[in-house]
Amino acid sequence: PAVRDLVGLKVVVSAGPTREYLDPVRFISNPSSGKMGFAVAEEARSRGADVTLVTGPVTLSDPPGLRVVPIGSALELRGAVIAAAQDADIVVMTAAVADYRAAQASGEKQAKVAGDVTVQLTPNPDILAELGQQRGGRVLVGFAMETHAGVERAAAKAARKNADFILLNYPTREGTAFGGDDNQVTLVRPDGSSEDWPRLSKREVARRLLDEALRVRARQAEA
Ligand code: C5P
Repeated sequence: PAVRDLVGLKVVVSAGPTREYLDPVRFISNPSSGKMGFAVAEEARSRGADVTLVTGPVTLSDPPGLRVVPIGSALELRGAVIAAAQDADIVVMTAAVADYRAAQASGEKQAKVAGDVTVQLTPNPDILAELGQQRGGRVLVGFAMETHAGVERAAAKAARKNADFILLNYPTREGTAFGGDDNQVTLVRPDGSSEDWPRLSKREVARRLLDEALRVRARQAEA
């Protein structure tokens, strides 16, 4: 039986990809399956937390016993996460947020033209960084995917976004990260310290993530 060490705590998890529509039938997205975020949400639920799962379009079914908020774009994700995070104790951003959206999405399907076309993109807001600006008493956890210089880049990211820690995962390792049932991550703190975890099921990664979030919370309470 699971330990019930999250009773009374509010946990917000974002999961899956976002879709940035160019016109009514075309969008920019990424292969995020949502499995990592769903595993965090389900693990938090089983340990007694009150869980809000804000998810982009995925093929997973809604886990029972938690609040599921479906979103499409990064801007919708931001609205839902910021609202849910107001009274949250732990926020875990596993969503693979698109960095850009169309500067001007067309309301009508764009006709094919001869030759090249140019699409103007504009940056999406960084939700984790926004939460980091107004920390409150929350524990803030991010994910990052890097192909090179991972630990340094993730530590810099954690520091810049004011997150407590980031789990770095690797898009190129077989059976892990995008779509896989396992993940192999490195825990990276803003001070640059890090811990390599072995390849584990996403549920086990979720368990360790929440253990670490509770340790951070205990330290914050002491300080
Ligand atoms: O894309 P990046 O590597 O900066 O993402 C690191 C973390 O920041 C992830 O947890 C991701 O969910 C979050 N993020 C966000 N808003 C964005 C981009 C990323 O909250 N626009």
